[in-house]
Amino acid sequence: MIKVGIVGGTGYTGVELLRLLAGHPRARVTAVTSRKDAGTRVDAMFPSLRGRVDLAFSTPDEARLQDCDLVFFATPNGIAMREAAELLAAGVRVIDLAADYRIKDVAEWEKWYGMSHASPALIEEAVYGLPELNRDAIRDARLVANPGCYPTAVQLGFLPLLQAGVVDAASLIADCKSGVSGAGRKGEIGALLAEAGDSFKAYGVAGHRHLPEIRQGLGLACGAPVGLTFVPHLTPMIRGIHATLYARLIKGVDLQQLFESHYAGEAFVDVLPAGSHPETRSVRGANLCRIAVHRPQGGDTVVVLSVIDNLVKGAAGQAVQNMNLMFGLAENSGLDIVPLLP
Ligand SMILES: NC(=O)c1ccc[n+]([C@@H]2O[C@H](COP(=O)([O-])OP(=O)(O)OC[C@H]3O[C@@H](n4cnc5c(N)ncnc54)[C@H](OP(=O)(O)O)[C@@H]3O)[C@@H](O)[C@H]2O)c1
Repeated sequence: MIKVGIVGGTGYTGVELLRLLAGHPRARVTAVTSRKDAGTRVDAMFPSLRGRVDLAFSTPDEARLQDCDLVFFATPNGIAMREAAELLAAGVRVIDLAADYRIKDVAEWEKWYGMSHASPALIEEAVYGLPELNRDAIRDARLVANPGCYPTAVQLGFLPLLQAGVVDAASLIADCKSGVSGAGRKGEIGALLAEAGDSFKAYGVAGHRHLPEIRQGLGLACGAPVGLTFVPHLTPMIRGIHATLYARLIKGVDLQQLFESHYAGEAFVDVLPAGSHPETRSVRGANLCRIAVHRPQGGDTVVVLSVIDNLVKGAAGQAVQNMNLMFGLAENSGLDIVPLLP
């Protein structure tokens, strides 16, 4: 059994890790932290886990994280960068669900995240944890930077087009919508039901932190810088991301065939039949990205529709997928889940 620690077990990605790992055949959570709720039983805070998780939250200092084989950081940005080095030195492998190790250019990271990086030497070693792009490197990694939610949906949608060189990489557009759980489990006016319910708005149009992450991933994949306009929106859903992606075709290609062959053999990317419109509810609770590709009126604009559950393929599920790779397990261990519908 892999002994797993979770730093930040009371947040939305933390409880999602607990849910997924409760059904994992080869991993057992042995430590889960919270500073505010130390001493509270996990099942007292999350009744959904009663009978499945027999643990109480402990403070990060009291949790015996160094006894774990792997520690997930399900914490805000800026925590793992201060704490990962000590765990790595003790032989513990680390997956950070935050952004601390996602961006290779330290100055760029510091600009977007507004703090100086506490462990820049580890950035180069960290492997960006998008298995569909970096599977082999993830297997050997000590430190994995788990991708952001929007970056997962957007990169999986654009990658087949960019790697085949069939679209203009200078004029990509990603128009994305997220449910409110994307902002975490905290009291904020904008996340109140009376504020976010029955309404719809864009945010971060001038620049969102996921923009440099998406640009970096797509640029590396196609071997040249990309031009991307990224506009996120908040929708009155709890879970889910819907990315509508636009690109200009520069070569004739059978788009459906391109996507189907690109993702053939990928357990967690489902290319839908031509003409489909994926729904966020079709992936709720599951580690899945469902994709459809369109070419409206046979013109030169490709439209890709990509949906994920932000907490699963966009965070905790992808993190467990990475753990499975790192420990030589079947990639779908603990992740063979049918989405919840309705
Ligand atoms: N929500 C999503 O859809 C999503 C998707 C992809 C990635 N992410 C990223 O994943 C990370 C976690 O997101 P989330 O939505 O689960 O956040 P969250 O709901 O706000 O939870 C944060 C957790 O971190 C703990 N924490 C906060 N400050 C800490 C510190 N200084 N030291 C140790 N623990 C600390 C909190 O517990 P205590 O304060 O009690 O210690 C809490 O358990 C974030 O970096 C987020 O950007 C989130």
